[in-house]
Amino acid sequence: MKNKTNIISKIKSRLTNDSKKEWPGLINAYKDFLPINDSTPIVSLKEGNTPLIRAKSLEKHIGRGVKIYLKYDGLNPTGSFKDRGMTMAISKAKEEGSKAVICASTGNTSASAAAYAKRAGMKAFVLIPDGYVAQGKLAQALVYGAEVLAINGNFDKALEMVQSIAEDYPITLVNSVNPYRLQGQKTAAFEIIDELGEAPEWLCIPVGNGGNITAYWMGFNEYFNQKKTKKLPKMMGFQALGSAPLVFNKLVKNPETIATAIRIGNPVNWKKAVEAKQNSLGSFEAVTESEIIEAYKLIGEEGIFCEPASAASVAGLIKIQKNLSDNSKVVCVLTGNGLKDPDCAINNNDAVFHTKLDPDLNKISKLMGF
Ligand code: F0G
Repeated sequence: MKNKTNIISKIKSRLTNDSKKEWPGLINAYKDFLPINDSTPIVSLKEGNTPLIRAKSLEKHIGRGVKIYLKYDGLNPTGSFKDRGMTMAISKAKEEGSKAVICASTGNTSASAAAYAKRAGMKAFVLIPDGYVAQGKLAQALVYGAEVLAINGNFDKALEMVQSIAEDYPITLVNSVNPYRLQGQKTAAFEIIDELGEAPEWLCIPVGNGGNITAYWMGFNEYFNQKKTKKLPKMMGFQALGSAPLVFNKLVKNPETIATAIRIGNPVNWKKAVEAKQNSLGSFEAVTESEIIEAYKLIGEEGIFCEPASAASVAGLIKIQKNLSDNSKVVCVLTGNGLKDPDCAINNNDAVFHTKLDPDLNKISKLMGF
């Protein structure tokens, strides 16, 4: 009897300890590094704390002892890294008494803004390029209850419009020009250093508006200044060839790419992204559509499903592989979940897919090779 009581009390204490260890969301986890105060109402869906996964097949592909890690930020609550910035932006907007938020988006920002605004009891308006937002992202914005305004124009036009609306009307802009967005997003760099014990030599990241590369660089530097890492990574930003204003240092009027998330011709964080690249001794490179799809499939072979824009980071790594020194560490950021863009997945895979089969056991087992 005594033994049984002992066991029960042990289990109980384990349960309470475990619940104490529950991930509190990134604002609570990193509050000393974030511009919040005791009266900030924290709007959270427990974002952050995403896995850093060793990419074993990719490592074989690259060789020379290079260690490759995938920061799978597609596992955030709405399926992209945007949640890191949105928990901050929406919490601060609520603290400031805002009743509504607005953003332009290629899809992920709108999904995230819609979810966090709903949770905060605020209204969300999202401007998107009509016909150029992946189905999963559009579905999310609708289900989270945003008011969706699809324009006959691209992302750059939509961003110009929301900036002007937010200047004229009482509504908070939650694109990455909102400084709280980058504050939240920098925590991904903290997580990488917390897990690896130091920064990697290289960070490969897809670049659209240039916000995330800026945020990572900020995060790495803050930890460096706190002596939590002795080194800083080279920031390698990758854009799709048809939407590569930063690579060619030239505005792109009509950006095009299968990676619709980064279909951007006039990045709003242009200057900051260039600074991150220069100060880190990194570089911007363009990757082609077929390189993006090849990388997308290779990531699938790791058992990981990301959206095409995210695969640009791995496509880029493959492109620059000869620059890597032996045994160096690389982190590729997988910014969004593959489920966001089912059309891309269905149209770009090497799977065996038999359709319209008779439900006949003999035929099916024969087809399976038995
Ligand atoms: N990867 C994904 C999946 C994205 O959704 C974005 C941007 C990026 C990379 C590029 O990040 O803009 O900070 O350089 N998506 C924005 C949106 C534009 O509206 O969802 P960035």
